[in-house]
Formats: sequence, structure tokens, C-alpha cells
Amino acid sequence: MKAEPLLDFYAICTPGLEPFTTLELPRLGFKEGPLFHPAKLPALRDEVQESSGGVGFRGTLADLYRANLQLRTANRVLVRFGSFKAASFPELRHEAARLPWERFLPPGRPVGLRVACHKSRLYHQGAVAERVVAALGDRLGTPPPVRKTAAEEGAGPQLIFVRLLENHCQISLDSSGPLLHRRGYRQATAKAPLRETLAAGMLLASGWDGLAPLLDPFCGSGTIAIEGALLASGMAPGRHRYFSFMDWSTFDPKLWKQLVAEADRAVRSRGPLIQASDRDRGAVQAARENAERAGVLDRIEFSCRAVSAVEPPPGPGWVVTNPPFGLRVSQGQDLRNLYATLGKVLKTKCPDWQAVLLSPDRRLPGQTGLRLVERASFETGGLAVKLWHGRVPERRP
Ligand SMILES: C[S@@+](CC[C@H](N)C(=O)[O-])C[C@H]1O[C@@H](n2cnc3c(N)ncnc32)[C@H](O)[C@@H]1O
Repeated sequence: MKAEPLLDFYAICTPGLEPFTTLELPRLGFKEGPLFHPAKLPALRDEVQESSGGVGFRGTLADLYRANLQLRTANRVLVRFGSFKAASFPELRHEAARLPWERFLPPGRPVGLRVACHKSRLYHQGAVAERVVAALGDRLGTPPPVRKTAAEEGAGPQLIFVRLLENHCQISLDSSGPLLHRRGYRQATAKAPLRETLAAGMLLASGWDGLAPLLDPFCGSGTIAIEGALLASGMAPGRHRYFSFMDWSTFDPKLWKQLVAEADRAVRSRGPLIQASDRDRGAVQAARENAERAGVLDRIEFSCRAVSAVEPPPGPGWVVTNPPFGLRVSQGQDLRNLYATLGKVLKTKCPDWQAVLLSPDRRLPGQTGLRLVERASFETGGLAVKLWHGRVPERRP
């Protein structure tokens, strides 16, 4: 039997999350190769604002389904579809029409184009998009309808990324559809919710082993605890959602079902103790509902309480949390006191635990009195934030 040809893929992620996407891929069975490297995509930056970094890898279509189903930190997975020289419009149209679009685009499926041109003779993004659509028409018989905006949920246009850099054109197809952080479980939100991909990245960066207890005393809509439960149990984050590849001509629903069943069989029935609390009753209710939709309600102990009243389980374990920064929530409040309280609670109730906090700078985490080092930095909602990590001292006799 002829082996299926390998395709080049590119998992786009939020800047700062590249090392964690790189960490995830070998765990999914992808091998390191010439394409397996975190790399910046400056030319796509303007077009995919939330994702300027990513990781390239290689595999079959089944691997692509698996990457979408399992990746916790990526925003979308692209197929590197075509790569050719294009220094004029006729050349662009001719070369683009040679690509096997029919493998991916069923007749009539609308498309959305994201074009970026850098240091190239073809610099007009609209004109480049027009020629690519014309090439699609040349190849498929009729040009597909063009939509300006991508769908937030469910089926939408097939996104096509066109990048021109130094007269070289790279065309990629999005296989994911709505961004991968939209796992489908978070319908109820509290104030300033964290992206699911960032919460997963925080957990991977924290060094949590998925066995020790996990505590989030500022849980809001529960994202960190839910991602923690999904991670520790090995549940596939994309288990319940739609992906753009499901509308491709080559989509194999039987294979997809098989991969989902395989992923389900790998779920561990027992998990670590995960506690999540918040002083806001509405937030805790939202978190419970989200956890139920994610299928992990029975894996998390939720409670409504202020941080000063938390009752952590016997540890040592990990506190991984996103306290208010003062930019979006609790503005004007004395946040320094809140962080000092957190420090006091950790020192008295969580000796020898690992503490991991998300904050834009050292100022507020410093109020905890813990010795903290910067572990990683990310972007969230256009804001640069850092992950601060420290060990809570052991209790002195
Ligand atoms: C930045 S939000 C957390 C968002 C959360 N990571 C999510 O994804 O939804 C901070 C949370 O801290 C909670 N909070 C503020 N002061 C608190 C206190 N003293 N004790 C417990 N929770 C508090 C707020 O109600 C808010 O939900």
C-alpha cells in the first residue's frame, strides 16, 4: 500500500506560548524534524493579531485531526498548502491555480482571505486576494464566494492565508475554524476571563505534574482549574467542537470518530485534587457550569470564599492563579493588601507548595513576600503578562 504523503503544518500560538506548544507536539507523537522549531511569523502578525508565533511540524491528515483535537496551547493549525515564486500577478494566478484546491474546498464553500505582503513587488493585499480567488475559479470551474469575517462559532468560510515575502508566496489553509481556545465549554464567564490556551500554558509552564493537588483561589470562571482537570485526566480539549477540516472534501468522519474514541479510551478515571474558589458567588456558579460542560465537574471542588478563608488540602501542591491586576477588575482597590493577604495565606496554609501567579510586573506579586522568579511571558488581551514562580517556605517549627 502506498504511504500517505506527509503534509507540512504550522500550529499558530499566542506569543510566549511557543515553547509549550513545542513541548506538546512530541507528546502527541510528532517527531522533531527540520520543520519542528518555534519560529516567528512576522509577516502574519498584522493578519493574525492574536498569534504571531508558532511551531512547524509534519504529518498526515490523521495527524492534523489529532493535533486539532489534542493541542492545548495552539490557536489554530495551518496546512502549508503551496509555496512558489510570484513576482507578477499572472505568475501568482498561474502558480496558485496549479495547487490541488479540490482536495480541500468542496464546491460552493465560501472562503476568507488574509493576505500579508512584505518586501515584494506585489504589495497590494486586495489585488493579491483577487488573483488568488481567480486562480481558485480557474482550478475549480467557478470562483468561490468570498466572506470578509471568520465565524466565531461553528462552520464558516475556509480561511486562506497568503503571505508574500521577498517575491515568494506561501499559501496556507486553516484547518481549525474558530480559534482553538474556544473549546466549547466556557459559555458562562466572570470578569476578565483568561483564554483557555493561556491557562493551559500557565499549567505547563508551572511544572505541575498533574498528580499533586492544585489550587486556584481566584478562579473566576474556572479556566485554570478546568484546564488543569482536562490536562491531568488526559481529556482531549477539542472533544466537543467543530473544526474547519470537517468541511473539506477529503474529510473522513470514520477516522475522526476513531481518533475521538481512542482519545476517550486514554482518559484517566482518577485525578488529583483540584480546588477552585472565588469570593464572587456568580463567578463560582459560572465556573461550575463551565466545568460541567467540560465534563470535569466531579474532578474539581468549587467553593465561594475570599482568599483569606481558603482551606487547602494536605500538600504540598501547586497554587496556580490569576489574581486581579487592577487593570480590568478591582480597580481602585488596595490590591497590595490583597497580594499581602495571599502571601500570608500561602505561608501559613500552604508550606512547601509551589506558587505560580500571572501578573504584568513584579510589583504586586512582590507584595506576597515570596521569592519569585519570572518563568515565562505571554500576551493576553493586548497586554504583556508574566508568570511568576516561587516556592512557599516550609513552616518553621
Ligand atoms: C482576573 S479574575 C480571574 C479570572 C479567571 N482566571 C478566569 O479565567 O475566569 C480575578 C478573580 O479574583 C476574584 N477576587 C478578587 N478579590 C478576591 C478575594 N479577596 N478573594 C477571592 N477572590 C477574589 C474576582 O472575583 C475575580 O473573579
